[in-house]
Amino acid sequence: MRYFIGNWKMFGEPKSIGILNKINKFVNSDKNNNKYKTIITPPFTLLENFSKLYKNKKTSIGSQNCYHKDPFSSNTGSISPYMIKSVGAKYTIIGHSDNRAEGDTSKILKDKVNFALKNKLKVIFCIGENKIQKSKKQTFNVLRRQISRVLDKKLNVNDIIVAYEPIWSIGTGKIPETGDLLKTTKFIKNVLTKIFRNKKIPSVLYGGSVDETNVSQFKNISEIDGFLIGGASKSSKKFIDIIKNYYR
Ligand code: PGA
Repeated sequence: MRYFIGNWKMFGEPKSIGILNKINKFVNSDKNNNKYKTIITPPFTLLENFSKLYKNKKTSIGSQNCYHKDPFSSNTGSISPYMIKSVGAKYTIIGHSDNRAEGDTSKILKDKVNFALKNKLKVIFCIGENKIQKSKKQTFNVLRRQISRVLDKKLNVNDIIVAYEPIWSIGTGKIPETGDLLKTTKFIKNVLTKIFRNKKIPSVLYGGSVDETNVSQFKNISEIDGFLIGGASKSSKKFIDIIKNYYR
């Protein structure tokens, strides 16, 4: 199973449901639709409405983040996994580099993952090295640390998706070289195999400047189980073309 996940970030208003409707209409009619799953993560403001409207549709709804306390607390402006689940969302992104940059540590992320899973949200856990770490050849160490400090073998692999998003490629139009990406994806899967100690491990996605043109460069890397798509997911045409071109 492949995943095409659209992360809208700080984008969207009630009428943006039109984008989702177009994407879902395509998925419904696509002959390849048994090979993949589509998920959109709108901002919190749209979560309840979109989740209700998409309760029984092929495309699922998730949040872009969640708070590390549950179910209620006195943290102004924060939204807990329980609250996200209560409005019908099924997934949550955790550990996006935007949120790591704003202070999310591995300890905080571990609490977020545990509370999300406790509330039966599936977790899209993001990891990735920055430009300096890459240039110092620290990528593998960084990724190993990010994974092993948060995920452990008690967790159900079916409820976790790992998204590898090198920070230097997010929103920059730069994507990793195929050979590097293959090695890194294999490395991540090895780390996960060691942690979960069985044959089944979480799916591993790639994210960072994926668009309708470059997606063809990823399709021969069979280790990649799908994509986390930011900018290009705000356009139904681009998002649909990514899926079309992947299976072309
Ligand atoms: P991008 O964002 O596709 O716009 O690079 C990806 C992400 O941040 O999830």
